Amino acid sequence: MKGIILAGGKGTRLYPSTKAISKQLLPIFDKPLVYYPLSILMLASIKEVLIISTPYDIGDYEKLLGDGSELGMHFEYAVQEQPKGLAEAFLIGEKFIGKDSVCLILGDNVFYGPNMTRLLEKAINENEGATIFGYPVKDPTSFGVVEFDKNHNVVSIEEKPKEPKSNYAVPGLYFYNNDVIEIAKHVKPSKRGELEITSVNNEYLNRGKLKVKIFERGFAWLDTGTPDGMLKASNFVSTIQDRQGFYVSCIEEIAYRRGFIDLKKLEKLGNDLANTEYGQYILDLVKINKK
Ligand code: DAU
Repeated sequence: MKGIILAGGKGTRLYPSTKAISKQLLPIFDKPLVYYPLSILMLASIKEVLIISTPYDIGDYEKLLGDGSELGMHFEYAVQEQPKGLAEAFLIGEKFIGKDSVCLILGDNVFYGPNMTRLLEKAINENEGATIFGYPVKDPTSFGVVEFDKNHNVVSIEEKPKEPKSNYAVPGLYFYNNDVIEIAKHVKPSKRGELEITSVNNEYLNRGKLKVKIFERGFAWLDTGTPDGMLKASNFVSTIQDRQGFYVSCIEEIAYRRGFIDLKKLEKLGNDLANTEYGQYILDLVKINKK
């Protein structure tokens, strides 16, 4: 399975902070926002990742993440000229995806919860077409929203409904088989002029090939759409890290634990960041595992 991180868009809701820098490069506490979705792909054992951003910002992502080899991964980069919608990722990424299945994750989505790896593995292994998620939120009007019938079967997904038929929002994490390329090619722009991911999901639903898995109570899917959301997400990460001593979305740690890199490579990555707490965390990990 291949992975795509969509990290374009104009980030206008975060202006002026995002006037000169891509939103997904802003920090959530101690690391760039894009580390969080990247870490989810890594937990899903996805090693080949395409990062899509604007012509203006793509170079910054390459500067930050390189070719992925330091993490035992392979990164490619592609440009989205205009933010024409999430489903365009599959058109831009057609060659990269090839004949594979693909996981799309939005560059501004932060997930954190127990059993994440098992949950992702299950989603991948049981996927027959598309697998997406439902997450209860107080106000779902700014998301894709799942409508269920009396027997909890999915009836439809609606994009930003004024009157949502449930409080289950669809987070920006989607698993698809290879049909997604063909399906995305036939999606028509919505009223707001975008190739909606919701249209892709509804097509899978029509074909009887859509699974919606529910993220249970206690699981964190954090909003980073506003300055307040960014602050709350930062505080959340800081609190977990400080209290448990385990880092959230430390990509170097995940690369080691997943077997992408050995201890020697991890030590090198830690040494490169040695004058930060982040680097010390990695070096402590090396020390513990050397014993
Ligand atoms: O966050 C989950 C929601 O993401 C879903 O519930 C919705 O169904 C889905 O449409 C999307 O909602 P938004 O319209 O709020 O997405 P937004 O425009 O904020 O874009 C999400 C991220 O993707 C953001 O980091 C910018 C990036 N993006 C967006 C578009 C439209 C791109 O890179 N290219 C694009 O063309």
